Amino acid sequence: MKDAQACTGAFLLQWRRDQLQRGGRPVDFDWLLDLSGGVSWSALQQLRIDPDRTIHIQCSLKFLEDQWIRHVAEAIPLQHLVGSCPWRDVELEASPAALIPRQETELLIDLAVQRIGRQPIRRWADLGTGSGALAVALSCEWPEAEGHAVDLSSAALSLAWRNLQQCAPLHRCQLHCGSWWDPLQLWWGQFDLVLSNPPYIPSGQIAELDPVVRDHEPHLALVGGRDGLDSIRRVLANADAALSPGGLLLLEHHHDQSTAVLDLMQQAGLAECEAVPDLQGVLRFAIACRPGGVIE
Ligand SMILES: C[S@@+](CC[C@H](N)C(=O)[O-])C[C@H]1O[C@@H](n2cnc3c(N)ncnc32)[C@H](O)[C@@H]1O
Repeated sequence: MKDAQACTGAFLLQWRRDQLQRGGRPVDFDWLLDLSGGVSWSALQQLRIDPDRTIHIQCSLKFLEDQWIRHVAEAIPLQHLVGSCPWRDVELEASPAALIPRQETELLIDLAVQRIGRQPIRRWADLGTGSGALAVALSCEWPEAEGHAVDLSSAALSLAWRNLQQCAPLHRCQLHCGSWWDPLQLWWGQFDLVLSNPPYIPSGQIAELDPVVRDHEPHLALVGGRDGLDSIRRVLANADAALSPGGLLLLEHHHDQSTAVLDLMQQAGLAECEAVPDLQGVLRFAIACRPGGVIE
């Protein structure tokens, strides 16, 4: 079924229109065509200009059609069907074991790099690592630092381990199964940089989520309790004790939680609390540090 195949541009474009009649979004179909079929968006544009050109596809059209039908009929995420997800400059394995890493989460890494610059850091943590996306990126940005990635889900940690081995083979990251800071007590007071994208969706909103998310992604990765802030409260409860003096904490949160998260950061004794927008201008990130020092 995965056999490569070739056809003219005109044939492929008509076949693409036929598939979209089944439903689904063109942007998702083109993502599948690129990831599974090896036909990039720019190659597709060139076929529109020159439809007589022959195009080589990495798998059979029947294989792509079957994947698309499953996505449209059963709302299965394409990343689960393809088994991977491009994220920053790596291609991560994706599976129902963990949240599919989202593009906006890439900004957490950019923010950490902006704040810390080229200063060396000794130790970082990724709380709620899921697929290990943030841990992979942190391992690549700070290869000399010791990393710790935590999750309550052992299935997620297995996936994170495979992603670290595949995408950051020289990593110095230890994985821990447990709740937030609990497995890291040995290193409390020594974390120069901590990132977390915790579950933050209020439980009452889960039923309204897109079925692609609601029915296929782990609820442990989504649900943040009644107001969505349970996990953030847990992370902040020990942040002051676990960060090193001057150590930096970066959190991702829901689109309407910025004020509440900044209040919680201040109540937790953190300093320089700041809200940061995503690329759409929505305040989706919060940054703070433990008072009393600079990272050396
Ligand atoms: C929103 S997902 C983020 C996954 C990944 N960091 C990312 O950004 O794609 C939240 C993660 O927190 C984990 N989690 C939920 N409760 C936890 C807890 N009490 N302690 C540690 N991790 C937890 C979930 O299993 C899930 O992997």
